[in-house]
Amino acid sequence: MAAYPYAARAPLIFRGALNAIFRNIVLDGVFEAKGMPGFADLLDSSEVELIRQYLGASER
Ligand code: HEM
Repeated sequence: MAAYPYAARAPLIFRGALNAIFRNIVLDGVFEAKGMPGFADLLDSSEVELIRQYLGASER
């Protein structure tokens, strides 16, 4: 985890948040008000799962 600078900036995901929250952020856009849109128009859930695995984010 320490190898990924992004992990230090994403405590919600990398320190035990539910994997469902990762999908809520990346697909559904729950962080829109913080400046991150959802990408449901560009990604499907299997692609988001591959990204989650690449980042090493929580599986729970
Ligand atoms: C597939 C690409 C992306 C993934 C997987 C992704 C994933 C995430 C995740 C997991 C978080 C939550 C971090 C946390 O608090 O634990 C987040 C936050 C955020 N992302 Fe993304 N993101 C992506 C692309 C983008 C893009 C393109 C932008 C900008 C246009 C962006 C802007 C933001 C912002 C502003 C936050 C909020 C940071 C804060 O808490 O202030 N993201 N992203």
